[in-house]
Amino acid sequence: MSFKKDFLWGGAVSANQVEGAWNVDGKGISVADVAIYKPNLNVEDYAGHNKITSQIVREAVEDTSTNFYPKRRGIDFYNYYKEDIALFAEMGFKALRISIAWTRIFPTGEENEPNYDGIKYYDNIFKELKKYNIEPIVTLSHYEMPLNLSLKYNGWVDRKLIDYFVRFSTVCFKSFGKYAKYWLTFNEIDSVGRHPFITAGIIPDQCSEGKLKDAVYQALHHQYVAAALATKKCREIIKDSKMGCMLTKLTTYPNTCNPEDVLLSLNSNLGNYAHADIQIFGEYPKLYKNYLKNLGVVINMEDNDEVILKENTSDYLAFSYYMSRTESADITKEKSAGNTIMGVKNPYLPSTEWGWQIDPIGLRISLIELYDRYSIPLMIVENGMGAKDVVCEDGTIHDYYRIEYFKQHILEMKRAVDMGVDLLGYTSWAPIDCISVSTSQMSKRYGFIYVDQDDDGNGTLKRLKKDSFFWYKNVISTNGEVLE
Ligand code: BG6
Repeated sequence: MSFKKDFLWGGAVSANQVEGAWNVDGKGISVADVAIYKPNLNVEDYAGHNKITSQIVREAVEDTSTNFYPKRRGIDFYNYYKEDIALFAEMGFKALRISIAWTRIFPTGEENEPNYDGIKYYDNIFKELKKYNIEPIVTLSHYEMPLNLSLKYNGWVDRKLIDYFVRFSTVCFKSFGKYAKYWLTFNEIDSVGRHPFITAGIIPDQCSEGKLKDAVYQALHHQYVAAALATKKCREIIKDSKMGCMLTKLTTYPNTCNPEDVLLSLNSNLGNYAHADIQIFGEYPKLYKNYLKNLGVVINMEDNDEVILKENTSDYLAFSYYMSRTESADITKEKSAGNTIMGVKNPYLPSTEWGWQIDPIGLRISLIELYDRYSIPLMIVENGMGAKDVVCEDGTIHDYYRIEYFKQHILEMKRAVDMGVDLLGYTSWAPIDCISVSTSQMSKRYGFIYVDQDDDGNGTLKRLKKDSFFWYKNVISTNGEVLE
């Protein structure tokens, strides 16, 4: 066995990390536009996303510069998209995962009519992709909801958001359904608990005293219902469409064979699965319901919600995979960083410069676990490593560490496919350097394509091909057969 003939090789980006042009052509301000540059973000401080206050947000709104808000400038994909898509095409991309900035279509989220300049911009992107036969995979919400909805309603805590999101999604399906077959609702929906502001627009000081936890689960419930309703609309509007849900796959091992470690890791994995369970099986798992009850969380559900969830489940499961983590009952053990989550250091694994532990076999384990549990097609929509690249005098960039990372992960992915896992595609994060979601750094580079811009926004924005560019091109042209 091997990868399918029409395997979707490509890359993934999100609007808020690449586009820039944060206040042009009618775009409204989003939660990403107030994300501050945090080069020294300590992993223990990832919960720092929770430290966001309405005061910080209001100050950010008053500051109209891009200085401390790198996502406002991105890598100027808004103007460079033709050049960038041509480079993706040169690598042989079969697919590109993009997201649509809600604020370009509905600047505050509450308008009755969409912003046609926003629609036109994405229409141009889709046309450009079509020119090269690159299949779009479109995420409706990737960490950039309208800030207005956050300030006015405390984001997804309010049920009104469901209607606003479905209205936005419907416009996207009607406008871009002729180009795009593969859709995703919420990027890493499970992350609402880890960073409630950027995923769900929740500002803790807008919650009643001690009620942040309740707000998080209520917001999640509203997102599940909104995702199900958007799935329904997608099927009504776009024939043969495929709507997926998306998970941050936080594969967690017991740090030792101590049964207490095993139990902790089991609970951690179940907590992670719950979000996919709800969207794929169409109901809250019994143990999860009980967990919420024991937490004292009461979710306000409307009568029809359970039916909506049951009738509109996902066609495929997309997930991001960067690292695995471990759990230990021994609180003195050394910790290690991860994708907005900590773990206990795994002595068998190396780490990136940002401390994320590199575990290619963990990707195979993840694929096997997910396929065995859900039996629906899978798609890896993010995988990659952040690193500080060095440009040589002749403009070359020798990113052998990145090639090695991808080589090992693709090899493990191939082994899972050989076992029979139904895998639709693989989109690396990110094919071009962009602004980091967690730290807003430019210097945390993921791309096969280097962008000449530093953390302060200085640089020519020139695009350069790294060694990995040529390597990935060869992987795609051989359909994953040649990884050397
Ligand atoms: C994923 C996000 O969780 O992690 C991406 O969906 C993000 O948007 C990626 O960029 C890597 O994280 P970071 O913080 O290194 O940008």
